[in-house]
Amino acid sequence: MTMQLASTEIASRTAAIVQEMKGLEGPLLPILHGIQEEFGHVPQEALPVIADGLNLSRAEVHGVVTFYHDFRARPAGRHVLKLCQAEACQSMGSDAVAAKIKQLLGIGFHETTRDGSVTLEPVYCLGLCACSPSAMLDGEVIGRLDDEKIEEIVAELRS
Ligand code: FES
Repeated sequence: MTMQLASTEIASRTAAIVQEMKGLEGPLLPILHGIQEEFGHVPQEALPVIADGLNLSRAEVHGVVTFYHDFRARPAGRHVLKLCQAEACQSMGSDAVAAKIKQLLGIGFHETTRDGSVTLEPVYCLGLCACSPSAMLDGEVIGRLDDEKIEEIVAELRS
């Protein structure tokens, strides 16, 4: 019953967002961003509403959601840690940073820890290349990640 209500709620809030933005040129991405802002992710229940509103197939909408890594299919954890995986950070060891953080948290990219405390995501350049390897924790950028900083971040995420 609660699920049913939640689905109806998602559908009506999604319909309002679609209605508001469908007149834009290339409305699908702004609509998806609006929906992610509203719900923290893009719920499955929103897809048919968007498809109907824009005259697209559900497969087309689903394809766009899965193509862009920005969109989450599930709710995020309490914290969102984004690790830069673009070129400048790669050259400064972002792979090793990511491997260490994945190991400490026990999750991979696009996953959330079981306790719901953190979601780990890749990001492609945070404009902080001079201080690479870089990350963003809950919207705040962090540069020059080294072992010490990684341990501090993970301890903070767990507290
Ligand atoms: S490449 Fe990582 S911040 Fe630019």
